[in-house]
Amino acid sequence: MDQYAVMGNPIEHSKSPTIHGLFAQQTGQQLNYEKMAVPIDGFIDALNEFQNKGGKGLNITVPFKEQAWQWLDDKSQRAELAGAVNTLIFSEQGCRGENTDGIGLVTDLLKNNKAVLKDKKILVLGAGGAVRGVLGPLLEQCPEQIVVANRTESKADKLATLFSPFGNIRACGYDGLADQSFDWVINGTSASLKNELPAVPASIVGAGTCVYDMMYGNQMTPFNQWAEKNGAEQVIDGLGMLVEQAAESFYLWRGVRPDTVSVMDALRSGL
Ligand code: ATR
Repeated sequence: MDQYAVMGNPIEHSKSPTIHGLFAQQTGQQLNYEKMAVPIDGFIDALNEFQNKGGKGLNITVPFKEQAWQWLDDKSQRAELAGAVNTLIFSEQGCRGENTDGIGLVTDLLKNNKAVLKDKKILVLGAGGAVRGVLGPLLEQCPEQIVVANRTESKADKLATLFSPFGNIRACGYDGLADQSFDWVINGTSASLKNELPAVPASIVGAGTCVYDMMYGNQMTPFNQWAEKNGAEQVIDGLGMLVEQAAESFYLWRGVRPDTVSVMDALRSGL
């Protein structure tokens, strides 16, 4: 049976085995997908061992996505720019890396939430690995402008410079957001992991603003609660992004596109 896995640390709470198990069942694909806890200093050894045993594909999660990117020779242009990979595809030719996080976000927005991004003004909060992974696919949708705002402004500046050849993108700190309004606000900070909110002015959300939090949970995320309280038109959490990035990985491995709506429903009812 073809072997797949997700490597990370910690990994106990990963939903990827459930998601890929449901995809495999639904599409009649014969495969085994498991989670692998990898020691912080043992990632490259684990990769080599998996490859030597004939493993077909891996998902890579925190904190190894950047290390996987460095290890790889062959990666897509999207992965190259993202600076991180979450999907490895093993074949007789070697190993190729892809980053499906950004396409997962865009697919969730466009397909599942009927969003229009073309000619829209998008604010992206945060400038870490998660945001770097989604800027390329967001710019491919030809928004009017993307503003990347980060608590540490210099990191936002770096990302805006890196992605400026691909569209209209600029950077600012949180204090530069006063009196600005947006069609979309996407929270890509990790603030909610610490039960915090990014210190952004409430004026960024107005009656016409849709908000997407890349985090999810069994309740509305703190950021989405804040946005709703401040009058956002719609709030969406990141569960759909999780399932859509997995679907893209599954497609790269198996050449079959699974149905994602039923898997999102199953996960949502199990949260
Ligand atoms: P990830 O891989 O999840 O992106 P990361 O690379 O560590 O993780 O980046 C975390 C992001 O969340 C950063 O943009 C960080 O802001 P700083 O660059 O200023 O550290 C942001 N972040 C984390 N906690 C935050 C908080 N309480 N308020 C605002 N931004 C926060």
